[in-house]
Amino acid sequence: MQTTQADKIFDWAYAPAPEATDHVHINKKYDLFIDGKFVKPGKGKYTNTISPSTEQLLAQVAEADEKDVDKAVKAAKSAYDKTWKKMPGKEKAKYIFRIARMIQERAREFSVIETMNGGKPIRESRDIDIPLAANHFFYYAGWADKLDYAFPNRKPQPVGVAGQIIPWNFPLLMAAWKIAPALATGNTVVLKPAETTPLTALKLAEIIQESGLPDGVVNIITGAGQTGAALVNHSLINKVAFTGSTEVGKVIQKALAGSNKKLSLELGGKGAHIVFEDAPIDQAVEGIVNGIFFNQGHVCCAGSRLFVQESIADKLIDKLKDRMSSLIVGDPLDKNTDIGAIHSKEQLDKINQYLSVGKKEGAEMYQPSCIIPKKGFYCKPTLFLNASQSHRIVQEEIFGPVLAVQTFRTIEEVIEKANNAPYGLSAGVWTDKGSRIFNLTSQLKAGVVWANTYNKFDPASPFGGYKESGFGREGGLHGLMPYLNL
Ligand code: NAI
Ligand code: MG
Repeated sequence: MQTTQADKIFDWAYAPAPEATDHVHINKKYDLFIDGKFVKPGKGKYTNTISPSTEQLLAQVAEADEKDVDKAVKAAKSAYDKTWKKMPGKEKAKYIFRIARMIQERAREFSVIETMNGGKPIRESRDIDIPLAANHFFYYAGWADKLDYAFPNRKPQPVGVAGQIIPWNFPLLMAAWKIAPALATGNTVVLKPAETTPLTALKLAEIIQESGLPDGVVNIITGAGQTGAALVNHSLINKVAFTGSTEVGKVIQKALAGSNKKLSLELGGKGAHIVFEDAPIDQAVEGIVNGIFFNQGHVCCAGSRLFVQESIADKLIDKLKDRMSSLIVGDPLDKNTDIGAIHSKEQLDKINQYLSVGKKEGAEMYQPSCIIPKKGFYCKPTLFLNASQSHRIVQEEIFGPVLAVQTFRTIEEVIEKANNAPYGLSAGVWTDKGSRIFNLTSQLKAGVVWANTYNKFDPASPFGGYKESGFGREGGLHGLMPYLNL
């Protein structure tokens, strides 16, 4: 049989283009960053952190117990009273600006470590996570001496010591989202990264040390849930900022009820893509792919539900399947990779469980026939067709590369369906009509609504949710408020 031009294109594969790792330095062991110094944990306990793409050990990381947490919080309190509270805004800005510059200078190293520790494709850590993290510091450096203009006649005052707990899906970016606005508003910080992805936060601690930021203004301590709980419950903490699961968010909210601590929660999501028959269809397919397969679906605002207007459903789904079959799943350090490693064995198990649930519930599963590496944690991009509102795969957050597809006929029907979820973080609307976009943005119960695009972030625009997705906004001028008494 003769091979046609089309076959050749189909057979054509990219040669591997792995990013170099030899310029990266990872210590064998990491201590706790408290009061400007790296100190050993009181009980001398360390845990392993691995690469989810190879299952290889990367480093050992200290586990902070209650006494270590107490030390870190006291260091932050003393730095708040003695230096940071009193320092003029324009002086604070210089430090925040310097941290931004230093992240930029070491961007390549940060990207590689983020990919090694978290499993996300190097293309994403290089083009999205690390530049956005630096931009966040740049952006908030600009606010530090302008708070009186941001909130005229309201005498903005810092809250005090912020306890900040972040997840594993955007390790450095979430650290930036938390630390930058807290510093700009005059607070000091104790930050706890996720136990599985601590390395870029610890690299950030090195930068903070080099930047000359006064000791104790930022403290970075590692450990798991117990460490987080000790931080939340410490009596000298004035403000808790948490990003993670809805389950832990609820525990924290209960623990803080009746206390004077301020709280902001950024929890789960079940984002909806709504595609109308007049949408630019190829652009929509790219947006849908980006919305759910980006970062393996480990994104709280992932577009994990697709509502497509009945008249174009077959065409769109065909195109979507085609596009999915061209996605490259594998080594996240390879610059060609579209879908990297699932962040942990536990998360992969959870996703696989949802795949069986979806099949049992009667939805039709589609996965392209790509090959995935034997070592490491990987999942193929997955579609569930003919899903229905009552299915668990439609209602519950999977946090993996899994998209549930439904069709609709009228705008009223799709608004009702899209809003019928316990979460309200994000949505994407695809249509040629501006009036329809505005109609939907006002009726969808979602904190962020993208129009004819998806997963676009900017430090200047606020981000946050409704309902079980949490409360409080991060980014933009709104992102200053959780750290101020107004
Ligand atoms: P998690 O909520 O347990 O972990 C997030 C952070 O909270 C980590 O730093 C963890 O050490 C800390 N933590 C855990 N228990 C705590 C407690 N009692 N008090 C204070 N801090 C505590 O999330 P996990 O278990 O890693 O993931 C479970 C599910 O949560 C995922 O499958 C996903 O559905 C969702 N998730 C949502 C995220 C988001 O961005 N909204 C991020 C990560 C997970
Ligand atoms: Mg958990």
